[in-house]
Amino acid sequence: MSQQNRSEASQLLRDLNWLPHGTKVVNVAIAGAGNMNLVERVSLDNGTSLILKRAQGWVEKYPHIPAPVGRAAVEAAFYAAVAGSSVGAKMPTHLGFDERNAANLLQDLGECTDGMTAYAGTKITDGELDAVADWAAGLHVLPLAGSIKNTLNNRAMRELNAVHIFDFPLAVDNGFDLEEITPGLQAAANVLQTDRDFIAAVQPIKALYLGDAPDGVLLHGDLYPGSWLNTSQGLFMIDPEFCWLGPREWDVGMVLAHLRLSQQPAQQSARFIRRYGQPIDRALANKVAGIEIMRRLLGVAQLPISMDCSAKITLLHEARALVLGISP
Ligand SMILES: Nc1ncnc2c1ncn2[C@@H]1O[C@H](COP(=O)(O)OP(=O)(O)OP(=O)(O)O)[C@@H](O)[C@H]1O
Ligand SMILES: [Mg+2]
Repeated sequence: MSQQNRSEASQLLRDLNWLPHGTKVVNVAIAGAGNMNLVERVSLDNGTSLILKRAQGWVEKYPHIPAPVGRAAVEAAFYAAVAGSSVGAKMPTHLGFDERNAANLLQDLGECTDGMTAYAGTKITDGELDAVADWAAGLHVLPLAGSIKNTLNNRAMRELNAVHIFDFPLAVDNGFDLEEITPGLQAAANVLQTDRDFIAAVQPIKALYLGDAPDGVLLHGDLYPGSWLNTSQGLFMIDPEFCWLGPREWDVGMVLAHLRLSQQPAQQSARFIRRYGQPIDRALANKVAGIEIMRRLLGVAQLPISMDCSAKITLLHEARALVLGISP
């Protein structure tokens, strides 16, 4: 972190009155791996620290890709919606939001690991999986004030995300070099990209994702291992910037997809659904899961998975079967 950034973060915290009385900033560092935003851990001279998360009109790591700056307000609205509930209790405390700087101030949960180690072969424990299920179940029954529904609807972020979920990975000749990621994967991608049945079955889910459902439940929207932190107080959820109002199967399907992508034992999907406990349209959850598996293998939002091509092709077959509702 450069001196310039350090003073910039401290200056902002001072300007916004976000520093506890009488404290000074002693260090600013990137809080952890992230792409979309500038997320900094600000250490204070009283031994405590804060997380400052700032959005710009582009993706932090790829400044040539535009992204809605309003995602910071969406994230703030999500924290407001869950404040005081059992759902909010398993997220960092939201300490402040400033619209002009698209900045959120959050409790620092400490330098803990996130769930991403799952892709490197770490088992997601039953306790962790149950915590995700309980958190999602709590979120999906949360009563919502009408006044914040429009913000939580998060249309701009859904439009950005839809391109990367439904369009780009399935576009023939999209220019994305899959051979560099896994030799042989491009040919497998071409098969799906020209599979009319598959493409047709994806479209209603895209329409569902882009449609407005003010009576939908509040979804995290990006419920994968990168969005949870293993803290000394148990599993905490972060990063709700992709939240929206829609069918609970979106969040459920996302978890199912990542259980497969991280090659967790097969029975964990059933365990998750049982523990989650709310009635779901399993076919819809499967479609969401299949599309997520496909886009994580073929799209730009790659995961740190080390599967060879044949393992990826097997997963792509499974993804196709899930989307088409057929036995793999
Ligand atoms: N409240 C917090 N306490 C501790 N660490 C945090 C906190 N919030 C974020 N981090 C760390 O910073 C990283 C990035 O945060 P976050 O996921 O919110 O940013 P992002 O830019 O939206 O990321 P992505 O591009 O992956 O969506 C997290 O993976 C985590 O390591
Ligand atoms: Mg994010």
